[in-house]
Amino acid sequence: MSKIWGDRLTLKSFSTDDTYQVGTSFLLANGHLGYRGTLSEDKKDQMVALNLCGVYDQYENKWRESINLYNPLYIEIRYHDQVLTPRNASLKHELALSLLKAELNRHTDFDAGTIISRRFVSISDDQVLGEFFSFRAKKTDQYEVTFGVDKEVYEINGPHLETVSCAAKTDHHLLIIESIMKTKECKQIIKMRTIYTCSHEISSADVINNDVFIGVKTLFELKQNEVMKVDIMSRIIISSDNDFPSKENLNESYKQHIREFEALFKRSRILLDGTKEAQFAIDFCVYSLLILGSKTRTTSIPARGLSGQVYKGAVFWDTEIFMLPFFLLNNLDIARNLLIYRYDGLEGALKKSKRFGYDGAFYAWESQENGFEACSLYNVTDAKTGQPIRTYFADKQIHISADVLYGFLSYYQATKDLDFLKRYCFRIFIEVYKFYRSYSTFDVITGQYHFNDVIGPDEYHERVNDNAFTNYLIYFTLRELLGIFDTGDNNSCFAAEKEITPVMIRSFLESIYLPKPNQDGIIEQFAGYFLLEAVTPEVLKTRMETQNEYWGKKASLTKVIKQADVVTLLALFKDQFSSKIKQANYEYYLPYTEHGSSLSSSMYALLAADIGKSDDSYRLWLKSAQIDLRGTSKMFAGGIFIGGSHPAAAGGGILTLLHGYSGLVAKDGKYSFSNNLPQEIKKLSFRIKTAKKNRLIKIS
Ligand code: BGC
Repeated sequence: MSKIWGDRLTLKSFSTDDTYQVGTSFLLANGHLGYRGTLSEDKKDQMVALNLCGVYDQYENKWRESINLYNPLYIEIRYHDQVLTPRNASLKHELALSLLKAELNRHTDFDAGTIISRRFVSISDDQVLGEFFSFRAKKTDQYEVTFGVDKEVYEINGPHLETVSCAAKTDHHLLIIESIMKTKECKQIIKMRTIYTCSHEISSADVINNDVFIGVKTLFELKQNEVMKVDIMSRIIISSDNDFPSKENLNESYKQHIREFEALFKRSRILLDGTKEAQFAIDFCVYSLLILGSKTRTTSIPARGLSGQVYKGAVFWDTEIFMLPFFLLNNLDIARNLLIYRYDGLEGALKKSKRFGYDGAFYAWESQENGFEACSLYNVTDAKTGQPIRTYFADKQIHISADVLYGFLSYYQATKDLDFLKRYCFRIFIEVYKFYRSYSTFDVITGQYHFNDVIGPDEYHERVNDNAFTNYLIYFTLRELLGIFDTGDNNSCFAAEKEITPVMIRSFLESIYLPKPNQDGIIEQFAGYFLLEAVTPEVLKTRMETQNEYWGKKASLTKVIKQADVVTLLALFKDQFSSKIKQANYEYYLPYTEHGSSLSSSMYALLAADIGKSDDSYRLWLKSAQIDLRGTSKMFAGGIFIGGSHPAAAGGGILTLLHGYSGLVAKDGKYSFSNNLPQEIKKLSFRIKTAKKNRLIKIS
């Protein structure tokens, strides 16, 4: 993909090879709806998707996934029977995504005419998306124009929708289409009303209404330089929303969206004194997260954002560890919604625990609505045979429950909002404690609790004992929250708690086994890791037999790790370990790390910043921040397609600037900073806005 760095993400060429990546990089979204950066005339083969957050469906016995809705922005122009699209021919094609306005502009020049369009997905009214489309004829001739709702949607495991009703009404220049869709599994009703206002009379147009399309098709006689316009405003309503408003106004909606997004972007922007490339990278990270947060809905952010159905549209630890810190800075309403999503998911976590034979709350590794565990027991396939491979992500990646606690703890440290914590976190805290207590094994000889048969962040080593990251995270999060909740008086949440006492939790914590560094200062990733074959990812790669082979099987016999593991522990809890230990572990694990997950580089960047390896840090930071700009991430895990946007890498990019280079530490609602800038960045500035403060922080 070719583009330039500037204030807009720009693409000045066209290649069918880029279809998926362009759709992902040029995504528009508003935390509820996501529309891929595809062209008006594109269809499901070009992976057009209007992705809906928080509504899921299972088709037959396939993976349950998020829904792609019918496409209301479909417009096709034919000239002499050929569709005008750069796939066929064009003289010039340009896409530009404004990060400041969250709008996508298109300009495509053909021999026969020029298409110019502007699209937005409203940040101020999250049911709305709209487009201003225009076509200027270059020849005086007939042009066949078709527009309406394309019902043939791109999906991974669908079809998910049934049409309940679909009706089109035309009136002079106006086409109104009302579609009602129903999900197959949960029978959720989703309504879509789209208003098309055409510059030319369409009352005599043919109305098409069949299984795959509803809209109009008409022939326009256009003079040379005559412009034909179609303005589209589409509103989507899910069952929990109010019904359609009586009036709609596309221009007003657009203006309001621009006003709100500009204000949001300016407030949230991180300015740096460095290269234009670096500023653009961080602007893109900020944009990527701002389009995914919701101020009004207690849904969360899926691992692939709203760029499609990859990873089932599910929410992972990515949100609490990598994305939440950004929202804590000055979008606290969004941060609270992300956490309330986990509170609403407690029910699912309790059920999951029972299913696997434990007490308390075992959060979903891949969480859908109400905390439903979407992670399959066979989560990747053999790239050669297509056979499912048994993976233990759902049953053994137990750190997820502590990741949820970590999110609440970060919120408390940033705000000191104890009421919120008591209301939404205390119950989770108790249930998560019960889960870990029941999962642990007590060794009578040493008198310690172990967490055996687990998976840490590095998913290539499954079913290991005492993963250091997991044990420490459980210990730190429970300990910190216990300190907050156990006020020892009648105000304490424990006063009303019948079953669990602070003493019980404390005594459990005191006996958790915490792997200590060896004589070289290295913390073993899990029991037995040191005995594995010491090869690098480069060597392991030469042992792969097929393209896209899943690395897990072969890597598990070696020290090769998929992503930062011990390094994540040291980067997140940098005050708990000495510089010597952090340095030793960074050096030790880096050569074995594949960075096969987009979550890996930012944790290394963060730790590198802390230990003064600023060259490494800057390089890894840029890698994380630019993943969706450069399209450098893995597209397959075994036979499973894993492409799409990477909001956790964007979040990790922001985290490195804030917690790494600005030395930001939040504690009991107070912030402290220190200058830890790499030489490539001379100054950094950003805003912190909480209920009590609105500060401009400058690091130089
Ligand atoms: C990583 C996980 C991550 C998930 C979603 C996987 O490849 O190993 O740590 O949560 O992707 O981003």
